[in-house]
Amino acid sequence: MGNSIVSPANVSSPMAADLSESTIVREYCNKTPKSARLAEQAQGIFPSGITHDVRHIEPHGIYVTHAQGSHKWDVDGNEYVDHPGGHGSLLLGHGNPTVVQAVQEQLNKGTHYGACHELELRWGALIQEMVPCAERVRPTNSGTEATLLALRLARAYTGQKKILRFVGHFHGWHDHVAFGVTSHHDGSPTPGVLPEVAEHTLLAPPWDWQQTKEILESRDDIAAVIIEPTGSTWGQVPLQPQFLSDLRDVTRQRGIVLIFDEVISGFRCSPGGAQGALGVVPDLAALGKIVAGGMHGAAVVGCKEILDLLDFRQMASLGREKIGHQGTYNAMPTTCAAAVATLEIIQTTDACQRAIDYGRRLQDSLNAVFHEEGVGWIAYGSFGGFHVFLNPENISTTREEIESGKFDYACLRAPVRPTLSNKIRVGLLLYGVDVQPWPGAPVSAVHTDEDREQTQEAFRKTIQMLKAEGEL
Ligand SMILES: Cc1ncc(COP(=O)(O)O)c(C=O)c1O
Repeated sequence: MGNSIVSPANVSSPMAADLSESTIVREYCNKTPKSARLAEQAQGIFPSGITHDVRHIEPHGIYVTHAQGSHKWDVDGNEYVDHPGGHGSLLLGHGNPTVVQAVQEQLNKGTHYGACHELELRWGALIQEMVPCAERVRPTNSGTEATLLALRLARAYTGQKKILRFVGHFHGWHDHVAFGVTSHHDGSPTPGVLPEVAEHTLLAPPWDWQQTKEILESRDDIAAVIIEPTGSTWGQVPLQPQFLSDLRDVTRQRGIVLIFDEVISGFRCSPGGAQGALGVVPDLAALGKIVAGGMHGAAVVGCKEILDLLDFRQMASLGREKIGHQGTYNAMPTTCAAAVATLEIIQTTDACQRAIDYGRRLQDSLNAVFHEEGVGWIAYGSFGGFHVFLNPENISTTREEIESGKFDYACLRAPVRPTLSNKIRVGLLLYGVDVQPWPGAPVSAVHTDEDREQTQEAFRKTIQMLKAEGEL
């Protein structure tokens, strides 16, 4: 087997070859020579040289040395407006002094006690106070673990096997949620996932309430429905609040556990997440990212009766088998220190609203540039961030129409040439702005109007270069 492996360092991807003639890519490479060298080393260590798929950029991503507020710096000394902010985990930006101090103080007291500690109590109590459905809280290490545990709890609670998910909705990477997100929308398993697992997972269209309702009402074997409450992939295909309240009603009537995946929307749409903002309360919620204050950590929260399945005394008194749940790094003291400091600020300030307002102003600025440059792109999103619809079919529409749910997944996530989306990301980096690949990003409470203007100009210059290269 060893003989058949070609070292990735010796092959360049087809996309990298396509990009070799691009001025955008050439200028980016000239600006980031040290990152390029590190990326080459990384090819011999990590698959694709990266540690998370979203960090895949051709010909290479940037290597960051430090970050502060809404900015970060790379090994070549370049400064960037950082929109994603730790993949959406840093609502308060990088290095918030209160959060840093709390973590530093905790580091001196110990990182891991392998025992209960008061900070986890404060963390759990804050989550209970802030998140409407959180009668009980169970920490996990990541959002992926949180959705995994939530689904298992729902199956054990109902005794049913099937999970209903929605096309395009992202819940991490474990087996039950690995397909039907960016591909395999027919429900077939992605490589490595058992067909038996896929068979027990139903996919529904989140833009069609009647079809969803029919599935829910025609079966008696559904344990849980899991949904991103602002719409698929952080609201990229916006979901209407009415859909959520209808879903709440039908799942309640049918005895199906309703799970909100609030890994991104939690503590972002409002201090109480999407459920706090929209007034629709699920049975369970998966929390991640902001809940751990930018450190590693997440949680399943929800109604006591379901989380009691994890409770030694409760299960013993009912003569039922408890669900086991471990996790070496659950509620690490350092994570709890960051989390408590962060959630206290979110609870007592307008941090969520500031991020939402900045996101809205940024969308306005981007839409002005798209209009001036005569491209059909549209910026939108109501969740404390922005998405850019690249509009490959050049549909005549508006931000308001997109947000009102007029378009489905197939339209809003219609494939664009991989070279185009990669060049957009590289172009923005060339002009000092980092975003997520689609393009879009969550934003923070500390982004400024200068950041907004720089982002606007980065989009303008990137569009102009794309035109010059014949991409637009
Ligand atoms: C909505 C949603 N669910 C689940 C996850 C998975 O969380 P994690 O990356 O912490 O495993 C993410 C991560 O981006 C997410 O956005």
